[in-house]
Amino acid sequence: NQPAQPAGAKVLKVGAEATFPPFEFQDEKSKEYVGFDVDMMKAIGKQMGVEVQIVNTAFDGLIPALEGGQIDVIASAMTITDERAKKVNFSKPYYQAGLSMVVKADNDTVKTFKDLEGKRIAVQIGTTGAAQARKIKDAKVREFNSASEAYLELKAGGADAVVNDLPVNQYFLTKGGDKDAKLVGEILDAEEYGIAVTKKNTELAGKINKALDELKQNGEYAKIYEKWFGK
Ligand code: ARG
Repeated sequence: NQPAQPAGAKVLKVGAEATFPPFEFQDEKSKEYVGFDVDMMKAIGKQMGVEVQIVNTAFDGLIPALEGGQIDVIASAMTITDERAKKVNFSKPYYQAGLSMVVKADNDTVKTFKDLEGKRIAVQIGTTGAAQARKIKDAKVREFNSASEAYLELKAGGADAVVNDLPVNQYFLTKGGDKDAKLVGEILDAEEYGIAVTKKNTELAGKINKALDELKQNGEYAKIYEKWFGK
């Protein structure tokens, strides 16, 4: 997935766990990485005059990969948390998200996170959804490498709910998942996504923030938002 680049153009290696539509995923036909984060990072790269290359990385391996220098930034629908901010520098928030639950379509007992007490919950490893699930009393939390595997576990009857980011749950349901599953009413909406760089690289963080500002001003951010989420 490397675009042809002019000689001498710098490459910004962007780490993303690319099975997380609509933020980062592989287009079935072209096999290219697509999604909101991918478009946003390409637009940021354009502002900065660098080529962007997506490096598909396990979600719980993203911060280690950043620290180890295999990638330059993380753009992976990553929620800004205090714990992560001890290890990385986050850009300004670029997307307002939150957690929600998906249950089987015929489940009428789970309406709130509290209703998941003692229940089996499927999550993606290393995510805020996993952390939230672990806070629920007596819950049996099963961690999967991807959100899609967590949804499959629900479908197979191995879990009572999936706890995951609301926009990703919504996308999953509108893309056909709604035949077997549905969204539960309660939403925890105090999460914001940020682009992460290493603690050392304050210069890069500044450039990314500047580019984000420019994209908000010139309408490019709105265009990308509309493409993936509608008006
Ligand atoms: N927003 C959640 C978190 O930061 C989930 C992100 C998962 N991202 C992904 N590309 N798989 O923990």
